[in-house]
Amino acid sequence: MKVLGINALFHDPAAALVIDGETVAAAEEERFSRRKHGKRPVPFSAWELPELAARWCLEEAGLHISDVDAVAYSYDPALARPAEEMGLDDPWDHLRQTYAQRAPGFLAAALPGLDPGAVQFVPHHVAHAASAGLASPHAADADVLVLDGRGESASHLAGHYDGGRLDVLATQELPHSLGLLYETVTDHLGFLRSSDEFKVMALASYGKPRFLDELRRAVYATGDGGFHTEPIDWQGLVKRRAADEEWTADHADLAASVQARLEEVLLELVGWLHEQTGSKTLTLAGGVALNCVANTRLFTDSPYDDVWVQPAAGDAGTALGSALHVAQAGGESTSPMPGADLGRSWDDAELENKLRTARVPFERPQDVAEEVAECLAADGVVAWFQGRSEYGPRALGHRSLLAHPGHERNLERLNDVKGREQFRPVAPMVREERARDIFSGGPLPSPHMLFVHDVAPEWRDRIPAVVHVDGTARVQTVSADDEPLVARMLEGFERRTGLPVVVNTSLNTAGRPMVDDPRDALECFGSAPVDLLAIGPFVVRRPGGRA
Ligand SMILES: [Fe+2]
Repeated sequence: MKVLGINALFHDPAAALVIDGETVAAAEEERFSRRKHGKRPVPFSAWELPELAARWCLEEAGLHISDVDAVAYSYDPALARPAEEMGLDDPWDHLRQTYAQRAPGFLAAALPGLDPGAVQFVPHHVAHAASAGLASPHAADADVLVLDGRGESASHLAGHYDGGRLDVLATQELPHSLGLLYETVTDHLGFLRSSDEFKVMALASYGKPRFLDELRRAVYATGDGGFHTEPIDWQGLVKRRAADEEWTADHADLAASVQARLEEVLLELVGWLHEQTGSKTLTLAGGVALNCVANTRLFTDSPYDDVWVQPAAGDAGTALGSALHVAQAGGESTSPMPGADLGRSWDDAELENKLRTARVPFERPQDVAEEVAECLAADGVVAWFQGRSEYGPRALGHRSLLAHPGHERNLERLNDVKGREQFRPVAPMVREERARDIFSGGPLPSPHMLFVHDVAPEWRDRIPAVVHVDGTARVQTVSADDEPLVARMLEGFERRTGLPVVVNTSLNTAGRPMVDDPRDALECFGSAPVDLLAIGPFVVRRPGGRA
């Protein structure tokens, strides 16, 4: 069975293709359209579809849309209720619902040859749940917790996967929403709603949770698997920050308070879930599951032995989840996703061709991993473009910006390349076998950068660029079996410097989506102070750079 999954309605439009239960391709529209998050998260954009991503998924598998058995759309308008009935202040939500109802027609127009009757609506949180339970290696027996801003009329799902089948145990209806709570405080703190929530998480580590009592009164678990979020007078707690205003201790304290309360409520929710099932594994999806700090708290303080998080935990992941769900419902057994590298790639000859067309001087060193290790050891910044691009917001060694972790100012240097706030951390990558020497307090291995770990005190001064203000780091572990080239590069760097860690952050410049194709890579290299571009087996050097 061939199923094309589509996420379109709210934000992060994406497409995914599942054939005979196997994940063949998945990509976000932003990587093609070069528009961050694909579109603005407003009702007026709800009709926009991930056309480019969908066409690429089909092309990747050599399929025409008419070959597809089903198109899974990760929202079911039949489950929605009028916004005012759900307690939402969203006067244009009815547009969203109209667009969702007409999605089969829109899809047939965007993908000529598609029978609109092949489009199946998948409830939004069931799609998220499948992106966790079915895409993980634990579909036989795992709990699943989904939390986001909103789906049709709920903001949460707690359930259990047994032999690939989902049993829904609790849902929380709107207006109560931990995702919307976090979005609201994101907006209040002067960041972009539905986009910059991770900045609040980063800011939280600079503050003290001194508003926790107020938040405990307004945000609480209800003892039946759900929770309530009562209205909060944010302005009464801390004055709203304008986007261009400096942040203060008050802002950090508010972020810390919301983060702390989120973690407390999550622990109560999963405590309840675990009581129902006794399962050993928890899988997570929904935008809230991109909160690495909360994920680690669930790993360390919940009754579960193992926590697995979908790398594309935000709405993009529902493209894959909805496709897996439809395949499973159609009687197929689905396989775990093979990795997060599910996007586009180019072979060596194609890359060489692109470099020749751009008329940039390039070389083919004997071993690109060694060449990059050498440049990094000399404190160069490297743009690393290898293999298939990543599905989800994290660079995992395919579209990465790499640097030496031993120099504290490299954090500033990278934040300058990326034109972003200086409180934003960058992350370490480390070979799996070396991870335990340095990192603890979170699951290891941790291949998808979805948890934070404590950095051993004796290492903090040795790798200062990747240690956050609270002594933690958002580590990515690299297995030589899954990522041989990255592992070799890390080995080469350790041989030269004695450091088993390299700084890894996503390859993009300010406000732009991650680099996806070779032209994006060349544009990024051309406009940012990067010393070396390693693209496939080739390298492009910056004249006068540290390479
Ligand atoms: Fe969602």
